[in-house]
Amino acid sequence: MTILVTGAAGFIGSHLCRALLAAGEQVVGVDNLNDYYTPALKQARLEQLAKFEGFRFSQCDIADDGALEKVISPDTVRVVVNLAAQAGVRYSIENPRAYGRSNLTGYLNVLEFSRAAKNLQHLVYASSSSVYGDRTDGPFVESDIVRKPSSLYAATKISGEMMSQSYVHLYGIPMTGLRFFTVYGAWGRPDMAYWIFTEKILRGQPIKLFAAGEMFRDFTYIDDIVSALTTIVDTPPKDSLHEIYNLGNSKPTGLMDLVTAVEMACGQEAEKIYLPKQMGDVSETFADISRAQAAFGYDPKTTIQDGIPVFVDWYRDFYKI
Ligand SMILES: NC(=O)c1ccc[n+]([C@@H]2O[C@H](COP(=O)([O-])OP(=O)(O)OC[C@H]3O[C@@H](n4cnc5c(N)ncnc54)[C@H](O)[C@@H]3O)[C@@H](O)[C@H]2O)c1
Repeated sequence: MTILVTGAAGFIGSHLCRALLAAGEQVVGVDNLNDYYTPALKQARLEQLAKFEGFRFSQCDIADDGALEKVISPDTVRVVVNLAAQAGVRYSIENPRAYGRSNLTGYLNVLEFSRAAKNLQHLVYASSSSVYGDRTDGPFVESDIVRKPSSLYAATKISGEMMSQSYVHLYGIPMTGLRFFTVYGAWGRPDMAYWIFTEKILRGQPIKLFAAGEMFRDFTYIDDIVSALTTIVDTPPKDSLHEIYNLGNSKPTGLMDLVTAVEMACGQEAEKIYLPKQMGDVSETFADISRAQAAFGYDPKTTIQDGIPVFVDWYRDFYKI
């Protein structure tokens, strides 16, 4: 029986596939390899996965009706992990339709695929810390009411949780939704601040700091996330059939501390340009992680002082800088 991972060429998806394959699982990965950021990076991640015998990849757009069913027969799938999405808060201002397509229509197709999968034990799907809206009263708890999205991206992630609940109620599919908090690390995402700061600093270019640097993010290291994911995949919820967990670090870090960590790892100080807060951005993210701790021993240990140098080393090696 197979684990189907959507968004397999993405940052979190490729790390998860590697961990599952290393543990001897059979994994089918799909991704549409879109150009929101450079597809060359997505291809390079896939090249790493192609080394494993248990991996099969298909370029497939989950928003196309019936596309997943052409890749794999639903009855052969044991677990679905939906990580495919149009990510990023700021891009949802420029290109809202990409979010409707991947995060709503695409996710509906994943739900329909899962409904048809007679041997499915668990559907795990990505939500986001952005569902909590623009708040400064953290830590944010899963039971908080989430009705004030600050961006269309956040609205589609809240919708994903609601769509999931309706399929749990109607069809009894066990599901786990994961609210990720600013995940970072090697093979990361070029649209995220830690990547942009590294790129600019190593090239001697100034960096832009929005909201005068007065922003806090609960940076969560990819290895901590993947270790949780590999446990969650085989831990379907028992009683409620639908669980939602915060996967953060529970240690919000100021943007200026992130800049310092990147500067130290790069060995260069950045020239800084201060700009107003951008549309859609939230001031703070801060996860209460006690639910995940109690349910499956989630215990993120990596600080940005440890994790950022690993990313910068990977970046220098990948781009030969
Ligand atoms: N990285 C984070 O900090 C973070 C935080 C909160 C939530 N998330 C969520 O976690 C998931 C994974 O994020 P990531 O950081 O790996 O992002 P990513 O952009 O690196 O990965 C997403 C992948 O999905 C693919 N994709 C997008 N639309 C698709 C479609 N219609 N059909 C098939 N493939 C499609 C993309 O090509 C990409 O490779 C996403 O759902 C994202 O919203 C991530």
